[in-house]
Amino acid sequence: MKTIRKIASLRELVRAWRQAGETVAIVPTLGNLHEGHISLVELARRRADRIVVSVFVNPTQFGPGEDYQSYPRTLDHDRRRLARAGADLLFAPAVAVLYPRAEDAGTVVSVPGLSTILCGEFRPGHFDGVTSVVSRLFNIVQPDAAVFGQKDYQQLTIIRRLQADLHYPVEIIAGATVREADGLALSSRNQYLSPVERKLAPALYRAVSECGDRLRAGARDFAALEAHGKATLVSTGFRPDYFAIRNADDLAPAQAMDRRLVVLVAAHLGRARLIDNQLVEL
Ligand code: PAJ
Repeated sequence: MKTIRKIASLRELVRAWRQAGETVAIVPTLGNLHEGHISLVELARRRADRIVVSVFVNPTQFGPGEDYQSYPRTLDHDRRRLARAGADLLFAPAVAVLYPRAEDAGTVVSVPGLSTILCGEFRPGHFDGVTSVVSRLFNIVQPDAAVFGQKDYQQLTIIRRLQADLHYPVEIIAGATVREADGLALSSRNQYLSPVERKLAPALYRAVSECGDRLRAGARDFAALEAHGKATLVSTGFRPDYFAIRNADDLAPAQAMDRRLVVLVAAHLGRARLIDNQLVEL
């Protein structure tokens, strides 16, 4: 596996693959890779001949007071894991490579509506940072496919919209959420939990699962279900940003006739802000 930091070298290698008739998939990440990320690499390998994984702690998606400075940077460890997982190229550019205009970070790609609700309400500008960096990565690598985790359900929905609106010739593939044995979704931010908080954290998964079960059983009082989910988390020690039942395709508030719903939650526990979700297909 090659590690590349410059756009020109990446393009040269991808061009050689293309000339050999090979297809290319990208798995964008912030690094500090865990089994969740590796599962996306494995999914990508089933869809394309060559796999590019980007490791880039993207400054434009972190808000003031968020963990940009302290976000775990573990490139050597990431490189070893990716080589074992069968990735072909690790793209690890410096900030100035993706954002050469230091003054203002340059062109912003923004998906209206979807990026200012739910997490977007509590993290203003976050999804503009995500879509701005993913557009750059798509333009640099020009992949046939790109793999994203369902763990970040709103992000996945926004990327699908970005792909459709800008007509990117890229197939967006969704990977299932990888969890610990007790249900907690794997996340780099789980490291911020104290041992006591770590024991409490699976309550997040249980709350969205329980809500999903009730919806599958026919419950339709969305406001009551949301209030119950939020109250359960508060009683466990979480500080919820939201607990919401939405249409799974456009994230609009759920309607009684919807066949595909998603239960989404974001909540703080100690120093960590955790998210999770549950898809409900009726
Ligand atoms: P990051 O948090 O590193 O996640 C990279 C990819 O891994 C995302 O698509 C995310 O949904 C997926 N992922 C994270 N935890 C997972 C889990 N437990 N199971 C399965 N997949 C999981 O998301 C980002 O980075 C960034 O916003 C990025 C898209 C790279 C843009 O900077």
